[in-house]
Amino acid sequence: MDSLIVEGGAPLRGAVEISGAKNAALPLMAASLLAYSPVTLHNVPSLMDVDTMMLVLHTVGADVIRKGNTLVIDPSNFNIPEAPYNLVRKMRASIYVLGPMVARLKKAKVSMPGGCVIGRRPIDLHLRGMESLGAVVDVSHGYIVVDNPGLKGARFSLEGPNGSSVGATCNTLMAAVLGEGKSVIHGVAREPEVRDLVDLLNEMGARIEAQDSTITVEGVRELHGVEHSIIPDRIEAGTYMAAAAITRGDVILKNCHLPHMEAVVGKLREIGLEVEPVVGGARCRCNNGLLKPTNIRTLPYPGFPTDLQAQFTAFLSLIEGNSTVTETIYPERFMHIAELARMGAEISLFSATATVCGVKNLSAAPVMATDLRASAALILAALAATGKTEILRVYHIDRGYEHIEKKLAGLGARIHREG
Ligand code: EPU
Repeated sequence: MDSLIVEGGAPLRGAVEISGAKNAALPLMAASLLAYSPVTLHNVPSLMDVDTMMLVLHTVGADVIRKGNTLVIDPSNFNIPEAPYNLVRKMRASIYVLGPMVARLKKAKVSMPGGCVIGRRPIDLHLRGMESLGAVVDVSHGYIVVDNPGLKGARFSLEGPNGSSVGATCNTLMAAVLGEGKSVIHGVAREPEVRDLVDLLNEMGARIEAQDSTITVEGVRELHGVEHSIIPDRIEAGTYMAAAAITRGDVILKNCHLPHMEAVVGKLREIGLEVEPVVGGARCRCNNGLLKPTNIRTLPYPGFPTDLQAQFTAFLSLIEGNSTVTETIYPERFMHIAELARMGAEISLFSATATVCGVKNLSAAPVMATDLRASAALILAALAATGKTEILRVYHIDRGYEHIEKKLAGLGARIHREG
């Protein structure tokens, strides 16, 4: 298993290109199954999760060709209504084929996603969406089995106990677009990745209107192929901003869309960083050493994203004073704290709130990545620590960060991979 070796201490400086958003690419790849002719997706990041979704699409009968960051997905032979356990257990987002299967093949058998290291991740809202549209859902022997006797427009809410669900919104939308009549869906997720899916579907011929937390879908008979470019990855951009911040550096982020990052940029400015738009992207720099502690609460978009919680916890651990980080989306998503503590961070956890008592230095230590964003947090801590940190199990990072060590090395980080 590969590990990353990071020698800390160098402030990051220079420019980095932000890739296409993983969490937009995955549902948009699945949505391509809804068309009767090929869909071309540009700006698709080269990641393990994208490879897995390509495999899922092959498994259900579609042809996928990749040329660099472009995918051509031909759904003409999409005719297998089953996503088996061995794929879904590799990646939860495989469940995105559920909506297209129900819509086009009139039935679906998709393995239930299992447990996850970031906490409980139920799928009740995905099933609520299908049932509200008139599908018949049965869960047995570890599989979700859905029968579509003819989906009909309906008015319902997808809001769950922790707010809106990105996955349930995308799946329900993909099922509803080929249904009959008008659906009005309240309590939907407003994440830019969901809006990218709405844009793609509309370009394919769907009739969807998205406004705040309500989506209205007027069913159409068929969808056609189009060319579409995936939005920039706001979580990757936020991670590089946090990397600039924790090393007290100065980084230009090319292909970064600041309007998707207001909560994150607001926090960085409040802490004392300068973040400003530049042509084609943004610049994040630390102009003075006096950074202020802060309180962060993760929330559905437009709130502060849970997918940047771990990275910001690492950053706050090097700011003098007490900060708090409250996780409302995945209350157990704190696996990185024990590893950060091995590097000298002082963080205590009570319920879903971490209290971070800033320290002057972090020191290198062997640490273990437990999930994608926790891995990113450890890399950030290592970039600022004194000495050489070895981060084990970095396959997690390859799921969601394109060429991370190359991009960081381009900014002056001393980082390499060992096999
Ligand atoms: N939820 C339910 N019932 C459901 C679905 C979700 O109660 O049926 C709850 C979840 O337990 C959670 C909240 O709703 O508390 C939000 O979960 P959501 O469904 O929005 O998450 P997801 O669609 O499974 C996507 C991202 C995650 C990201 C979350 C939240 C993808 C492939 N994954 O997951 O990304 O954390 O939205 O923004 O888009 C990551 O990239 O590291 C990652 C975990």
